[in-house]
Amino acid sequence: MAVPEFQTSPGMRDILAPESARWRAFVDVFARIVEAAGYRQLMSPLLEDLGVFQRIGEATDVVTKEMYDFVDKGGRHIALRPELTASICRAFVQHRPPTPWKVWSAGSQFRYERPQRGRYRQFDQVDIEVLGSDDPYVDVEVIALGWEFYRALGLRQVTLLVNSLGEPEDRARYVEALRVYFEANVDALSPESAVTLQKNALRVLDSKRAQDAALIAAAPHIAEFYSAEAGAFFEAVQSGLRALEIPFRVDASLVRGLDYYRHTTFEFQGGTLDSAQNALGGGGRYDGLVESLGGPPTPGVGFALGLDRTLIACDDEGVFAPPSLNVDVFVVDTTGGLEALRITADVRAAGMRVDRAYEQRSMKGQMKAADRSGAKFAVIIGTDELDKAAVVVRPLRGERANDQSTIPRVDLISYLQKVLS
Ligand code: HAM
Repeated sequence: MAVPEFQTSPGMRDILAPESARWRAFVDVFARIVEAAGYRQLMSPLLEDLGVFQRIGEATDVVTKEMYDFVDKGGRHIALRPELTASICRAFVQHRPPTPWKVWSAGSQFRYERPQRGRYRQFDQVDIEVLGSDDPYVDVEVIALGWEFYRALGLRQVTLLVNSLGEPEDRARYVEALRVYFEANVDALSPESAVTLQKNALRVLDSKRAQDAALIAAAPHIAEFYSAEAGAFFEAVQSGLRALEIPFRVDASLVRGLDYYRHTTFEFQGGTLDSAQNALGGGGRYDGLVESLGGPPTPGVGFALGLDRTLIACDDEGVFAPPSLNVDVFVVDTTGGLEALRITADVRAAGMRVDRAYEQRSMKGQMKAADRSGAKFAVIIGTDELDKAAVVVRPLRGERANDQSTIPRVDLISYLQKVLS
């Protein structure tokens, strides 16, 4: 086949069936779990004013390097959303719903990254956020829902890492200590991390480069900088997780790639992906974000789980297979197709899944299509059957395959209901 003139852009994919059905099922499972916990869906636009996303933090790659932004025909500087949290906070400021506001969202995000397995320029997330509560047990609820969701998919090799970045002042003192430490050792840092250091010392902890590993391991620890309140808050989160028997590991280097976090941060890591792409999902608390978008001081906590990556992990673990899209019945009509039109309409109206062949193909061609459809039964109409107001029902699989019966047309629906039940 010649290479077509147009193909998807790098990092963007067509999702064909049955994978597309699996994506839908993924969101359905997520919605069922979080709606049962009182979260309600928010559908926000794919585009926002660029300024909304700049509040994520001017020192993050997501904002400085990866944004799809442009000036629209009305002269507005807008961007495709790279994540949901900033949009959800913008919506909160705009609508001022009663708190705690518990929302979930799902959909595509856009980041201009270097595409590779598990890293795309258009990718999907499912997300929950709770705005308006500073109760540490909200953090626990949020984390527990993520954990429950991975269990529901059937994933077993998921590790939960948690950390706390403390109060903003704790975090600021820590970042300053990190800066002093890394600057004293800048000759040993990788050139990339030396550049990162100039912008945000915290981000150096994100480096996955082997050259940086020893320096990062010996860097000052965030825990040394916690205020009494921050330490107590983190302790409460951990005791909540223990009460729910959710296994976790405290990882002091878990600072996450976005700048808005305060207190709790966490990440769910998959056991089967490369370390640069093994974050299946993550989140944390972002107590200053609503204010930075012009709202009243409002605490917030939430997570986003990457759909693309989580499905790769499901493939690797052999769980959460695509749902079956097979129809129940396939109609084969060699009399011109009008009878097939009536029968498919009747069988669909009775709630069964039914497909048919078109274009007056031969009996052989239609039976081949019937087989390919995965249907359990073929309903066959030839001139003989049409004359006698009858149909032939032929099982296509199982022990009774091909053991066909001729039945009156008027009895078809009840007959199919019986054999399919
Ligand atoms: P994030 O860590 O940037 O957090 O993204 C969350 C998840 O989205 C990642 O763990 C990963 O599974 C997936 N993801 C991110 N980038 C890509 C990509 N280029 N290709 C495929 N998957 C990707 C956030 O987005 C925060 N808004 C999470 C949050 C919610 N924090 C508080 N509330």
